[in-house]
Amino acid sequence: MKFLIVDDDPFILKMLTFTLQKSFMDIEVKTAGNGQDAVNILASKEYIPDIILMDYMMPGLDGLEASQKIKKWAFEHDLFIYILMVTAKAQKETEISSLKIVDDYIQKPIDIDILTSRINAAFRITQLINEKNKLLKKNDQLYDHLIETNKMNERLVNRLSEVLEQMAISLSEAIEYKDLTTGYHVLRVGYISEALALGLDLPNENIEMVKYAGFFHDIGKIGIPDQILQKPGKLTDQEFAAIKKHASIGAEIIKPINYFKSIVEGIKYHHERWDGKGYPDGLKEEQIPLVARIISVADVFDVILSPRPYKPSKTEQEALSEIILNRGTQFDPKVVDAFEKLYLEGKIHDIYQHVENKSLPKTNILDFIMSKG
Ligand SMILES: [Fe+2]
Repeated sequence: MKFLIVDDDPFILKMLTFTLQKSFMDIEVKTAGNGQDAVNILASKEYIPDIILMDYMMPGLDGLEASQKIKKWAFEHDLFIYILMVTAKAQKETEISSLKIVDDYIQKPIDIDILTSRINAAFRITQLINEKNKLLKKNDQLYDHLIETNKMNERLVNRLSEVLEQMAISLSEAIEYKDLTTGYHVLRVGYISEALALGLDLPNENIEMVKYAGFFHDIGKIGIPDQILQKPGKLTDQEFAAIKKHASIGAEIIKPINYFKSIVEGIKYHHERWDGKGYPDGLKEEQIPLVARIISVADVFDVILSPRPYKPSKTEQEALSEIILNRGTQFDPKVVDAFEKLYLEGKIHDIYQHVENKSLPKTNILDFIMSKG
């Protein structure tokens, strides 16, 4: 422990120095002849005491003013310095006003036993406060470390979902080579489905999954023979029955990937209809998983817009009218309403623009579109 004794009486400085050195082991003692000297010693940082014995009445800066400056300096430097005021002024007001600034207070003439027991108390308090400060500092360091680790995790998660999205897009685009459609149908279905999920207030963790369900909805076409998928003319009943299997095949393909467990049913049932006349199981209304009801609207809207060997393309307005016409028969009315709202806000059009131009990193499309509106 380091002591600083501040008194304008050289005799008291000597007496207190002697008493401290005699009473306590392993201590350092320095003295100052007035308040300003004490403040200067600290300001120069040449000696930073743990405990100060401060006289009250001194010429120039008195003990209280000096203590005030020292406490302020210590606070600014994240330090604790214990100040024990020693005074001949035995007035209640002096004691009360002093204790607003200093930590303890004893009266002259100094009783050595009282002084040493007060200093022992000061030791304990100083040690406790220093330990507390050390813990707080450690806590701060741990907190900084935690923040840094969180930032790193966030970067990793972002990177991972970027890679995942790119892989999902590559895989789902492969289907377009097989069924001879082009123009990123699956990308648009994925992003429209994601926007619909957001519009329908789905929980955040489900919104991203709906996008992946959109990307993968037709992945089962891998299992359909090319001569059927690529047939330009009308399909026979048998061929159409074979095509219908793509929904269940897609679900089987995605099923082994644990991460995509929640979208398997969305893929399997994306051709079900609200009125129960769809496939593969003829599910009706809310028996159909919501993700499948969402993809159904996004998929059909985009198919109407796209030219296919068996049909010409239509305009956005015509496609919207067709979706609205089938509200409550083919499609879930609340999904159609959410779609119409997104359409009227121009957000569906924005998705088309950005998929077309690929002007933004794909992962940012939804954020960008939603921020516009
Ligand atoms: Fe499909």
